[in-house]
Amino acid sequence: MTVKNNNIKFYKGEQIPIELHKVRIVQKLFLKPIEERKEAIDKAGYNTFLLNTKDIFLDMLTDSGTNAMSDNQISSMLQADDAYAGSQSFYRMEEALREVFGKHYVLPVHQGRAAENIVSQAFIKKGDVIPMNYHFTTTKAHMELNGGKVLEIFGDDALQIKSDKPFKGNIDINKLKDIYKKYGKEKVAFVRMEASTNLIGGQPFSMQNMRDVKKICVENGTMMVLDASLIGENAYFIKQREQEFKDTTIKDILLEMCSYADLVYFSSRKVSSTRGGGIVTNSEELYLKMRDLLVLYEGFLTYGGMSVREIEAMAVGIQETCDETIISQSPSFIAYAVTQLDKAGIPVITPPGALGCHLDAKGILSHVPQQEYPAGALAAALFLVSGIRGMERGTVSSVRDEEGNDILSDVELLRLAFPRRVFTLSQTMYVIDRVKWLYDNRELVGGLEWTEEPPLLRFFMGRLKPKTNWPEKLIAKFKKDFGDSL
Ligand code: F0G
Repeated sequence: MTVKNNNIKFYKGEQIPIELHKVRIVQKLFLKPIEERKEAIDKAGYNTFLLNTKDIFLDMLTDSGTNAMSDNQISSMLQADDAYAGSQSFYRMEEALREVFGKHYVLPVHQGRAAENIVSQAFIKKGDVIPMNYHFTTTKAHMELNGGKVLEIFGDDALQIKSDKPFKGNIDINKLKDIYKKYGKEKVAFVRMEASTNLIGGQPFSMQNMRDVKKICVENGTMMVLDASLIGENAYFIKQREQEFKDTTIKDILLEMCSYADLVYFSSRKVSSTRGGGIVTNSEELYLKMRDLLVLYEGFLTYGGMSVREIEAMAVGIQETCDETIISQSPSFIAYAVTQLDKAGIPVITPPGALGCHLDAKGILSHVPQQEYPAGALAAALFLVSGIRGMERGTVSSVRDEEGNDILSDVELLRLAFPRRVFTLSQTMYVIDRVKWLYDNRELVGGLEWTEEPPLLRFFMGRLKPKTNWPEKLIAKFKKDFGDSL
């Protein structure tokens, strides 16, 4: 028996998360002076997606494709079997996915959104609705491209920033029943549940909620689709927060979660710490509806746009998702950061969730109107004063309505991602420190406006500029407080 997760007890003093791994391959980081960071953010159009990693100190944009790989994953890549069709690497991955997800048919794809493309094309008709706990950006875009309408039916507490509700990612069962009454079951393409609901702060749903949703799906003959990109963390939260599962293994929790879904798809960039993705199901009928699309868009059935090395690493990575010491690392570091910031009175999503620490930009920059993109401004300001790159998850990541007005996002978040086993505790302390400084100087930060705004998924490639000279004022105050220190 060994320690199961990163929250070991300390003799005296504060609870801190501990790394249950040693670091053997490292990558040098550079912390550039604030003037150079200013040049970089100007060049990037105040959009952190457009920054170059050579200008970044701590890259907390995402955990997607940036989790640390394990020694076993790296070594598995050396046995990769290069073949267009019938590669042994694929069969090893297929076996691993069958074991972890409990589904027989496996379709590999090059990343999560490729799965969304295939699932949307195969199962959504024009005029259909798709109820879900919350959308993800690429999910919604694919569903709408295929004529579907996304209906978010989260509970009343889901968008509350400060909360002690353990499962803010739950679907509201009454709202789901109302959808069937309003649209009729023929119009419901499927019900989608997203594990560790990304855009509302990595918040999990409970197993009980899955069971309740499943019951309604069965009554109406609707299929249930699970986005399992962050399923490991959701399983960990079920173990931590849902009494019935406190002694259940992560492996068994994962199997039970997947047992309720007719189809599971995932981004391997998150769940198994390597590139790629997949779709799994036990239904031959569903499999056959997707199979030809896979060959058309992704590649042959035994590689689906992935390299054989990635396929090998996925086989190992997905099994490691059953290891509590691995999947608890990111949530325990997030919990540490969130607790420290919350204690300092800084608005941050609680309870701590998966993927990252989510700062409430609407609360922090309450003087910046939502039309001036407070989350985008906070992301740019934090980069400027620290070299930390986070991701805007607010109105910049939203879209415009038919009249051309911004659809204001429900929440304005700056997400600071904690990819698995990448950052140390002292780096985490630096993050906390710089966020505290920025909070104390928040009045200096102003809004942003577009200079280039692409019509689709504008947050990726769009460019903005500050509405006033607030970056210069922020730099002046930073220099006053930190002197020559970077
Ligand atoms: N579903 C969820 C819940 C996701 O978080 C993502 C990606 C996808 C699907 C799409 O997967 O990137 O492999 O195509 N999330 C990343 C993020 C981009 O940074 O949160 P993908």
